[in-house]
Amino acid sequence: MLVQTITPKTTYEFAADVRAGLTKPGQKELPSKYLYDDVGSALFEVISHLPEYGLTRADERLLRRHARDIVERLATPVAVAELGSGSGRKTRHILEALCRRQRTAYYPIEISPSALAMCERELSDIDSISILGFEREYLDGLLEVAAHRSPGQHLLVLFLGSTIGNFDRPAGIKFLTEVRRILEPGDSLLLGTDLEKSSVQLLAAYDDQLGVTAAFNLNLLARINHELDADFDLAQFEHVARINHQARSVEMHLRAMCGQTVNIRGAELSVEFLEGETLWTESSHKYSPAEVFEMARTAGFRCDVQWIDEQWPFAENLLIAE
Ligand code: AVI
Repeated sequence: MLVQTITPKTTYEFAADVRAGLTKPGQKELPSKYLYDDVGSALFEVISHLPEYGLTRADERLLRRHARDIVERLATPVAVAELGSGSGRKTRHILEALCRRQRTAYYPIEISPSALAMCERELSDIDSISILGFEREYLDGLLEVAAHRSPGQHLLVLFLGSTIGNFDRPAGIKFLTEVRRILEPGDSLLLGTDLEKSSVQLLAAYDDQLGVTAAFNLNLLARINHELDADFDLAQFEHVARINHQARSVEMHLRAMCGQTVNIRGAELSVEFLEGETLWTESSHKYSPAEVFEMARTAGFRCDVQWIDEQWPFAENLLIAE
C-alpha cells in the first residue's frame, strides 16, 4: 500500500468569489464548494449519518450490493479516480471488489485536505491498493490523473453521493461532457444521482431536527470571518431550506434576521443585508431515472446499467464513454 498527496497551488479565488457573489445584483449567492473547509467537511460527514438524510446510506447500500457486478462490467486493467472522495467509506466496496481482481491505483481528488486525509486513512488497509491523492478541483485533478495513466490502462471515474446535483442542470451536463472529453472510449463513470421525492422528505433532509445542516450552512459565514477577516454575526443569520419546484431542487439559504452591514476586509468589501434578505449557498437538484439516461447520452456516454434503491429513491448509474 502506498499513500501520497499532491497539494494545491495557492489562489485568491475565495476572496474573488465572495466579492462577486455578494455584490451580484438581485439574489446574493456563494458557490457551494466553499461549504467544505475542515469544519464543513466534518459536519457533512455527520449529516450523512442523520436519520432524515437517507441519500448517503442509499448510495452505500447500492455500492455494497452491486460492487461485484459493477467491477465485472469494467474494461480492464483499470485505475480508479474519484471526484470528491469524502471519507472514502462508500468507495471501499468498489475498491475491495476490484483489488480482488487486480492491483489497483486509486486517485481521490478533493478540495478539502481533511477529507482527503480521512479517505486515505480509511482505505489504506486494502490489500493491493496504491493511493495517490490530489488536492485539486475535480477537472484539474482528473486531467492530472489521466496524464498518469499507463498505455492500455482504462479509467473508472467515481462521482458518487449525487454531487452532480449541486450543479444546475445545464452545468451538470457541461461537467459530464468535460469529464467525457478527458476519458477514452471504453472508460467508465459511476454516477450517483438522488431521485425526486416528496417535499416533506426533502425539507426534513435539508433542515434536520438536530440543526446539523443549519450549522453546516452557517459555517460558511464563520469560514469567511476567519479566512477573509470578516465580521459576520452568526446569531443574526438563520438557515433556510426551500423547495424550488421549477428547478426540481432543494435550496439552502442564510437569511438575515435584521438589516446589517458586514465588513469583509480580505475581499475589500462592505456589504448591506436587508432584514429577511437571503444569501443562496447551495442547490441540490433531484432527477428522474429516465433523465439520467438522457443526460449521459448528451454528454457522450451510454448508460449501461442503472440500479435504484428501494428505501430511498436514489440511482447508481454505470456510464460507458462512447
Ligand atoms: C454533497 N451534496 C450532494 C449534498 C447534497 O445533498 O446536496 C450536500 C448537502 N447539503 C445539505 N445537506 C447535504
